[in-house]
Amino acid sequence: MSDSVDQIEKKLLQAIEKSVSPREVLRAKELKQLYSQLPSLPPAERSAFGQKINALKKKLEVAAASREEDLMSSERTPIDVTAPFDKNSPPPSLLPAEQGTIHPLNTELARIIDIFTRMGFNAVQSRQLDDDYHMFTSLNFPENHPARDGYDTFRTSEGYVPPAHTSTMQNRILKAGRKDLEKGGQIAAISYGRVFRNEDVDATHEHTFYQVEGIFVSSDANLSQMLGTLQSFFETYYGQKLKIKTQPAYFPFVEPGLEFAIEKPAALGGKPGEWLEMLGCGMIHPNVLKEAGIDATKYRGFAWGGGVERLVMLKYGIEDLRHFESGKLAFLRKFV
Ligand code: DAH
Repeated sequence: MSDSVDQIEKKLLQAIEKSVSPREVLRAKELKQLYSQLPSLPPAERSAFGQKINALKKKLEVAAASREEDLMSSERTPIDVTAPFDKNSPPPSLLPAEQGTIHPLNTELARIIDIFTRMGFNAVQSRQLDDDYHMFTSLNFPENHPARDGYDTFRTSEGYVPPAHTSTMQNRILKAGRKDLEKGGQIAAISYGRVFRNEDVDATHEHTFYQVEGIFVSSDANLSQMLGTLQSFFETYYGQKLKIKTQPAYFPFVEPGLEFAIEKPAALGGKPGEWLEMLGCGMIHPNVLKEAGIDATKYRGFAWGGGVERLVMLKYGIEDLRHFESGKLAFLRKFV
């Protein structure tokens, strides 16, 4: 009797080692037969035999489990860290039903564009790769002038420039609007887009950021129109009355050149007398008009330009500029 149990054990263990579904072996008829012999045994032998076949069953179960594990691990492909992601993980059949959202800078840029287009300005996107002529020469930066150093940006090996400001669009806008001007009209446009600077990155400096530039030319444009336009823009954007002030500044493409500041509103945590410089502006330099083929004795214009992030940071109390390009979901979801 016990011989046959040992034989069955040997046979079934071998079967498990070869099987691709080892648990099936636990249902083998030999095992059932052993159990069915129990009632016919003399009572004195019954208990010992019962223990023996129970022990056998346990042994087979352990062997089946171990064989199953071997099978699974041999099916697993070794991980190749250089392979495309779907080589190492199952296809994304159960992607979470979550949608992306518009980046807060794009939402705010759309608001800014909306305010200016309602005032009658055309909007044009700036280029992300430009040339020396539009970056400097057309804007009255003399060759080798130190003022160029303030716009330290990158360069491609072909000599193209990722622009350091949106003023690169001024010459193009002026040339495009020249005909309208000559027909008695005016030029009113904004240009917006990404700009790039060779900066050490910290809470208030980024190598990549957004600017909005404005340009207006007519036969009698003047500084008070410019200040009115800018004050009206900022009051609409922040939804409240604001105090403004200017101070002289140097930019080769405007004369006079100014820095434009607003008093930080109390509603946004400002104290009286706390001024925030928002942008550069001024009356367009005659050389810039001439370079675009516009008669500077008949027409005059004003222009301004400044960063978008600064406006948005003030509006929402964002303390670190680096959040915008960080791709951090916790930050982005606050603006949904
Ligand atoms: N382009 C200047 C800068 O990025 C800002 C600026 C100043 C633009 C005066 C203007 C302007 O149009 O008139 O620093």
